[in-house]
Amino acid sequence: MKNFIYHNPTKILFGKGMIEQLGSEITGYSVKKVLLHYGKNSIFKTGLYEKVVAMLKANNIEFVECGGVKANPSLDKVREAIDICKKENVDGILAVGGGSVIDSAKATGRGFHYEGDVWDLFKGTGKSEKCLPIFTILTISATGSEMNGNSVISNEKENKKWPMAVSMDNYPKVSVIDPELQKTLPVSQIVNGAADIMAHVFEFYFDGSNDSDLTNEFCEGIIRTTMKQARILVKDPENYDARANFAWSATQALNMLLQPGRNGGDWATHMIEHSVSMFYDIAHGAGLAILFPAWMKYVYEENLEQFERFAENIFGITEGTTEEKALEAIIMLIKFYKDIGAPVTLKEVGVKEEDIEKMAENAAMRGALGKLLKLEKEDIVEIYKLAYQ
Ligand code: NZQ
Ligand code: ZN
Repeated sequence: MKNFIYHNPTKILFGKGMIEQLGSEITGYSVKKVLLHYGKNSIFKTGLYEKVVAMLKANNIEFVECGGVKANPSLDKVREAIDICKKENVDGILAVGGGSVIDSAKATGRGFHYEGDVWDLFKGTGKSEKCLPIFTILTISATGSEMNGNSVISNEKENKKWPMAVSMDNYPKVSVIDPELQKTLPVSQIVNGAADIMAHVFEFYFDGSNDSDLTNEFCEGIIRTTMKQARILVKDPENYDARANFAWSATQALNMLLQPGRNGGDWATHMIEHSVSMFYDIAHGAGLAILFPAWMKYVYEENLEQFERFAENIFGITEGTTEEKALEAIIMLIKFYKDIGAPVTLKEVGVKEEDIEKMAENAAMRGALGKLLKLEKEDIVEIYKLAYQ
């Protein structure tokens, strides 16, 4: 096992009606005026907007609004939100939404305290650890952004979907995870969420650090739980317990619980996916359902032992050679994605074959990707081809 530091400062309020308790948490940080940050329409359609405003008013918390954050959030919206925060003198941000809104809030909070352009913090040419205090009300479980320090933003002018350097200040102070708020999600978003959760686990599980046994067990528990609850939810979206277990799996998959003792995660597939969602604006989870099996087919020989463990502990495959088990597990994974209604080829989501070269170049722009196997542009082209049809 590798040495590690484990520190997650986010407080979680989990369950039905927990939004009621958020006001006193916000005022507990001496925050008097927040930027209320949200997405396109769902906050209004679901009636959540009125509840949030009532909670803020009941706690004498002033607010200014910046809505309209799109899925795969844009740098332009972050710049707009920073301007509002500066002009209105807010001292905290309340993000109501999913990974996109929360990531946008984190970039805004960091940009607020940075004198230059916020994109410097993504390029690595600027440094600032400080962030406005972030509070979140999660409405879609997938990314884990409610309990981590990550923020991924699309610079659409430059065709770059990049993560910001993580800072401890970026972790939300308090996040509300009320599974009831997710009842309004279309089934396609449950499916995207499942693929994203599983992908986060795969990034850690297959990073070549097989000797971190406890995290291996955590990983397998989260994968099995996510698959089980996703199968229930796509048929029975009203099932509260399935939603609650699904939601908690999502949070645990990327709140760094799975990192201790490992190699920090592989993350090649995430970067390869970000280039697809940059050019095609498809859901991040949908891209991962397509690309993870392709990455597995390309790299499994580098870590046969872990792929055999995966085959046995996730799919109960006990017959055959190590290699046969690994390959069968990848087929079973694709079958699971198909069963719940996820796309499994790039062609299906409208990607053009002639764009593969351009996407690979984009993904490899900052150098080789991955830990298990270092992937150069040529390797990424092969993975896109494996995922194509
Ligand atoms: O914009 P609105 O109208 O709110 O609609 C949203 C959006 O279209 C809708 N939605 C959200 N909650 C809803 C709802 N619709 C009905 N009822 C509700 N309760 O769902 C759509 C997707 O929302 P989004 O926030 O984009 O989804 P997700 O949470 O999957 O976030 C994806 C983004 O996060 C990044 C992805 O790359 C992508 O940009 N990631 C962030 C990570 C992190 N911070 O740790 C890690 C991930 O690997 C990922 O890269
Ligand atoms: Zn992800």
